[in-house]
Amino acid sequence: MNQIELIRALPKAELHVHIEGTFEPELMFEIAQRNHIQIPYQSVEEIKQAYNFHNLQSFLDIYYAGANVLLHEQDFYDLAWAYFEKCAADHVVHTEMFFDPQTHTERGVEFATVLNGLKRACVDAKIKFGISSQLIMCFLRHLSEEDALKTLEQALPFKDDIIAVGLDSSEVGHPPSKFERVFAKAREAGFLIVAHAGEEGPPEYIWEALDLLQVNRIDHGVRSEEDPALLQRLIDEKMPLTVCPLSNLKLCVVDDMAEHNIHRLLKQGVHVTINSDDPSYFGGYMNDNFIAVHEALDLSHEELKQLAINSFEASFIDASEKQKWIKTIHQLS
Ligand code: ADE
Ligand code: ZN
Repeated sequence: MNQIELIRALPKAELHVHIEGTFEPELMFEIAQRNHIQIPYQSVEEIKQAYNFHNLQSFLDIYYAGANVLLHEQDFYDLAWAYFEKCAADHVVHTEMFFDPQTHTERGVEFATVLNGLKRACVDAKIKFGISSQLIMCFLRHLSEEDALKTLEQALPFKDDIIAVGLDSSEVGHPPSKFERVFAKAREAGFLIVAHAGEEGPPEYIWEALDLLQVNRIDHGVRSEEDPALLQRLIDEKMPLTVCPLSNLKLCVVDDMAEHNIHRLLKQGVHVTINSDDPSYFGGYMNDNFIAVHEALDLSHEELKQLAINSFEASFIDASEKQKWIKTIHQLS
C-alpha cells in the first residue's frame, strides 16, 4: 500500500470541524432559495471566487454571512448530513462537530431548532454509515461573556446531547481569560472543555486555555512552537492539538505547506491530530488535509498511522471504542 492508499484506508476521527464551515456553495444556494433569503452572489462560481482570504477575520465575515440562510431544523439536518457523506467517503468513522449556537440564536433561530436538526443527522449517520459523533457547542469569543453565559443556560436542557464546550471566532483581542467564569460553570455542569488558542493568537492564550479554562484539548495551538516551556508542558501532559493544515494555509497562518510545523511537532512528541476546520471554505475534507501534509512534508507510513491513532486517543469516545480503532490501525500494512 502506498501512502495515499494508506491515508484512504486509515480509520480516522475528526476532532475539529465547524459544521457551519462544511456548508458547500451548492447547498447554500439551494437552502437560500427555499427559504427565500437573498445572498450577495449570483452563482456558485461567484461564491467560490469570494473565498479568497488573507486572515481569520476575512474568512469569518463570509462564513457568518453564509450561515444566515439556515433557519429550519431541516436546514441544519441537511447541512450535517452532507458532511456525514464526506466523512463516509474519507473513512472518518467518528467526528466531534463544533456548532456555534449564537450565530443562529442572534438571528432569532431557536437553540432547539439547531440542536434537533444536527442531532437527527447524527442518529441517521450512525444507522446509515456506522459513523459515531458528538456535538461541541462553541461560544463566539468576539461577543461578551454575558452572552456566553446566556448560551450556556440555553444549552443546559440539552446537556446529554452536547459533550463539550469550546471557544471560537476572532482570536486576537479576545483571550481565554475573558471567558474564565463561563467555562468554570460549564465544567461544573459536567461539560468537557476545548478552546481555539494559538491559531493567530500568541502562546500566552494557550497558557490561559490550559490554566484558566482547564481544557481537555487545544484547537489549533500551532503557535505553541514559539514557546519552548509551553511546548514541553504540552508534551508532558500529552495535551492534544487539533491541527488544521489546509485552514492554516488558506488563512495565511503559514505561507507554504512545506513550512507547516505539524511534522516537527509530531517528531517532538506533541499529540497532534489532523482535521479539516471549515472544509468547504479551505479546499478540502479530512483526506485532502492528510494528502496535502504528506505531499509537502513526506510523512512515513508509521507517522501517518500515528496521526490516525492520535485522533482516536484524543477523542471523547469510550476506552473500548478507542482500543478497537487503534487495533485496526496497527493491523494495516
Ligand atoms: N470559526 C470557524 N472556523 C474558525 C477558525 N479557524 N478559527 C476560529 N473560529 C472559527
Ligand atoms: Zn476551528
